[in-house]
Amino acid sequence: PMPARPVTPAEIAALQQRALEAAQHSYSPYSHFRVGAAILLHPDDRQEGAIVAGTNVENASYRLTSCAEQAAIAMAVTLYGPAIRICAVAVVNLNGAACMPCGACRQTILEFANPETPVFYPGANGEAVATTLGELLPAAFRLSPE
Ligand code: THU
Repeated sequence: PMPARPVTPAEIAALQQRALEAAQHSYSPYSHFRVGAAILLHPDDRQEGAIVAGTNVENASYRLTSCAEQAAIAMAVTLYGPAIRICAVAVVNLNGAACMPCGACRQTILEFANPETPVFYPGANGEAVATTLGELLPAAFRLSPE
């Protein structure tokens, strides 16, 4: 896997800012929980480490809701193609609430990241908590090679 790349405080702040901007666009008429997620992509020959953000998009059927993290990843693949690698993730919300990525999003992030990938999320006191994807998803599903 891609080695963990150090993420600078400036990059973390930029991720959080982009996530906050995305959260302003949240479609969340059912929960009123406005979430934004931003992912930092590994730099490659075509671009610097780009930041791509997403927000949650709810649905009247409830179960079709897309989380902010899922939206950000779909946007990143759409913009940069299937070879993207995620080197950091930040999640924020406009509700002043603690908020960790849901189980499904942890597995979705892992598809393009690795267990060392840093994840930043709002803790109970409004502070950003730093953890890793491996801490959040220690027993991830992996498709066995044939
Ligand atoms: N949500 C996210 O978008 N990301 C998270 O990490 C947690 C939950 C959304 C889904 C739903 O629209 C709302 O927050 C309440 O669960």
